Amino acid sequence: MTPTPTGPTDPADPADPADRTSPADHAGPDGFGFDAPFDRTGTGSSKWARTAGAPGVIPMGLADMDLPGPPAIAEALRRRARHRAYGYTVCDPAGRSLVAGWYRARHGVEVDPDWVLLLPCGPRTALRILLETVPQDTARTRAHVLFPTPEWGGFAQLCRAARLGYRELPLATGPDGHRLPSGPLPGPATAVLLSSPHNPSARVWPADQLRALADRAAEAGALLVSDEVHGDLTHPGHVHPVAVTTVDPAHRHLVVTLNSVGKTFNCSGIPSSFVLVPDPALRARFADALAGYGLWEGGLLEQTVQRAALREGGPWLDALLAHLAAARTRLTDRLGAAVRSAPQASYLLWLDAAALGLPPSAARRALLDRCGLEASDGADFGPGGHGSLRLNYALPGPVLDTVLARLARLDLR
Ligand SMILES: Cc1ncc(COP(=O)(O)O)c(C=O)c1O
Repeated sequence: MTPTPTGPTDPADPADPADRTSPADHAGPDGFGFDAPFDRTGTGSSKWARTAGAPGVIPMGLADMDLPGPPAIAEALRRRARHRAYGYTVCDPAGRSLVAGWYRARHGVEVDPDWVLLLPCGPRTALRILLETVPQDTARTRAHVLFPTPEWGGFAQLCRAARLGYRELPLATGPDGHRLPSGPLPGPATAVLLSSPHNPSARVWPADQLRALADRAAEAGALLVSDEVHGDLTHPGHVHPVAVTTVDPAHRHLVVTLNSVGKTFNCSGIPSSFVLVPDPALRARFADALAGYGLWEGGLLEQTVQRAALREGGPWLDALLAHLAAARTRLTDRLGAAVRSAPQASYLLWLDAAALGLPPSAARRALLDRCGLEASDGADFGPGGHGSLRLNYALPGPVLDTVLARLARLDLR
């Protein structure tokens, strides 16, 4: 029997879902419930709200996982909530060492705790505020913010919001997938933005390509902002280059790494992030810009979640990565040449609509109509994304079975 995927028909329903059985209560062989149905009804899930009113459609667009988060986070929130002191909460400096320890344990690199800023806002807000630290006067200097295309659409949106001119650099594609631009930057630049691993293709950028791009950015005096919110989701067998510890140390003062437990541990509903900023002057400018928005390091729920995730979330993350890598293999085996760049991290698949037998200019609609699967439209990833679709496969095993069965309705080319 094909299981029916569950999801809310009442995404704005504030009903308390806590009295329903949680998948963690019947955890299954992985110990964390990744193969049990995960009913998000009544939780206000943004991802499921995108398909509200279309029963049976499986949302595979938004980058958030239909998988239960770490039990350690649930327990930490429960424990902390018992004390009814919910006032303004200072930053615990031990959080910086926790981040440094995480990088040592998970990535084998040394991060100076002094580089770390612990932010009470999500990565998108952190990026917007970081953009305030780059020179604004693009009209006079003719310098731009640069980023590749296809690329996460947030960069373009944030530059527009910050009234910063930007240019998109087409990514080259080699036999093993996309490649970072390697030549001189096209004209003056204030900043280079990059998702690493790449969103949408889930490519882990090779360290030498990242280093070369950092060299080009430094020659131009531009800040390299490496958005690594998918970096802790690198699949077994691949190595994620942490930008601040990968670039030539002489260029480190011009590099920022951004990360968040929100993406890694599927808790983006509690906005938090952290940045690694080796340059003290830039760190101070960034902290000033944050304060201008009424944001200071710290925060109550943010730190509760971050501490629990980084201290105790390792085993959950290992099990998650095994689950994602197995799902990736099943999908890439099925979709073959329609996969534009072999995914090596995260839970994103970047697909060639024409190779799926879908009309490139209306592929999202066609996939919805033919298969009941909701994807992200490639055009949302800049001019390099036309004719593509992005699918998020962070799903419980039985729902993935349904997805694979539905994909069999396509005429793969
Ligand atoms: C590469 C990248 N950066 C930043 C964000 C923004 O994260 P948030 O909306 O949680 O701030 C996302 C979300 O999908 C992302 O994929």
